[in-house]
Amino acid sequence: MESSEISGDLTSVLLTEKQILDKIAELSRRIEADYAGEKVLLVGVLKGAVMVMADLARELKLPIDMDWMAVSSYGSGTKSSGVVRILKDLDSDLTGRKVLIVEDIIDSGLTLSWLRANLESRGAHSVEICALLRKPEAAKVDVDVRYVGFEIPNEFVVGYGLDYAEKYRNLRDIGILAPHVYA
Ligand code: XMP
Ligand code: MG
Repeated sequence: MESSEISGDLTSVLLTEKQILDKIAELSRRIEADYAGEKVLLVGVLKGAVMVMADLARELKLPIDMDWMAVSSYGSGTKSSGVVRILKDLDSDLTGRKVLIVEDIIDSGLTLSWLRANLESRGAHSVEICALLRKPEAAKVDVDVRYVGFEIPNEFVVGYGLDYAEKYRNLRDIGILAPHVYA
């Protein structure tokens, strides 16, 4: 980690930058095989997915378009409620498009299950999901995620786009946030 001040906020490093980039390369090979000869619209979910999107988009040897959405889940504190509000909508028309949602993490699954249904209702040809991380123990709804990087324990993680109160997004590794930071 970059500084001792920040490493004191983490219990441990869960995934190193190298592990993350190797996994994104592995997922990219699967995506290339599945979408061979086709153009994919990558839809990144702001802000957490910015780093995954940047690395995935450059790793993929496919023609792609990129678009972004920002959503907020109403709910108490760090828990999502499933009631989603669009803060920034897509610029693209989805009619007939092959859409791949790019997410940092799936926790309860409520945000993504809403998002997929929303994008499908706009006439997309297909809507699949690529998420770098998933917390299986936190799942409240079953979301069919075609590409998952890592299944991780039910701990709050930061780095590589993931934040706590907008902090730590620029860490290259992903670490477990120490409870004293949010207690
Ligand atoms: P749901 O529960 O709807 O929520 O799947 C997914 C969103 O919750 C945020 N989230 C996290 N953000 N570290 C974070 O920095 C975490 O451990 C974490 N768990 C959930 C994230 O915004 C994700 O898109
Ligand atoms: Mg997010």
